Amino acid sequence: MSKPQVLVAVKTFSDVVDRLRPHFDVETHDTDQPLSQEELIRRLQGKAGVYISGSNKIDAALLAACPDLRAICTMAVGYNNIDVPACTARSVLVSNAPDVLTETTADFGFALMMATARRITESEQFLRRGEWKHWSVTLFAGADIHGATLGVLGMGRIGAAIARRGHLGFGMPVLYHNRSRLPAAQEAPLGAQWVEKDELLRRADHLVIVVPYSPSSHHMVAERELALMKPTATLTNIARGGVVDDAALARALQAGQLAAAGLDVFEGEPQVHPALLACSNVVLTPHIASATVATRRAMSHLAVDNLIAALTGGTPPTALNPEVLKS
Ligand code: GLV
Repeated sequence: MSKPQVLVAVKTFSDVVDRLRPHFDVETHDTDQPLSQEELIRRLQGKAGVYISGSNKIDAALLAACPDLRAICTMAVGYNNIDVPACTARSVLVSNAPDVLTETTADFGFALMMATARRITESEQFLRRGEWKHWSVTLFAGADIHGATLGVLGMGRIGAAIARRGHLGFGMPVLYHNRSRLPAAQEAPLGAQWVEKDELLRRADHLVIVVPYSPSSHHMVAERELALMKPTATLTNIARGGVVDDAALARALQAGQLAAAGLDVFEGEPQVHPALLACSNVVLTPHIASATVATRRAMSHLAVDNLIAALTGGTPPTALNPEVLKS
């Protein structure tokens, strides 16, 4: 009997992809340029499963055009690029890759916040341009991290890991806002206090945004919210482009409504709003918060574990709609 066919639509570690070969006929995509939607649909004909990343879009039109598809496994934790209800309606299993990237992503969020507050890239560019002529008392004087108030918008696994770093490592009072408040037993080890969103914006010295993207979090931080922030505050976004209104952020930075921003994600990435590129007080990175070799390997392994289990009668470890396997 021929093996089911799967597509690995992301260029990833070949030894991890090789784990699929005993179970499936495996087709791969061998460049980092994401497949166009048309090409993805074409290559999914006859495929029972697909390994994707956050750069691939799975919507109702794709599902309708790919009737053999039974499993969609993303190596990302975020899945705003996948229409999960549409998948469930067609009994297509969807999995994501939570947990394995939590600590790595929190490390990066913290690093980006620190680079932003301490003006690390701005000062490096100044030095590289040969503009450093003498030491000065106020040269690139930024804001302290230790003892400053950390604001976490979105207290999921990554938000909690950032709060823990701030609380235990840097003695930061931690405020957070989340749709649902954590039980007191989970707040206590993080030293975290729930507040309304506006209060978080008003009181945070360093705001880190870690909320998943959905229609309800679109432009959750826009002109009105930015106007509430302290002029000395920083904003770091490691969540998704679209949670912050980038154009409004650039205007607020230019107007001195906040001191600086650290951004790993952008609306319409890989395009970056030109007004942000023109701001010197912004640290910009190309969506790399989970990018360590160990963690990207772990994410890839987890997507493969899910794909194998979903199509061989097993239990996918991190399914988002496990109910489809019961029907
Ligand atoms: C990265 O942004 C992810 O969702 O894993």
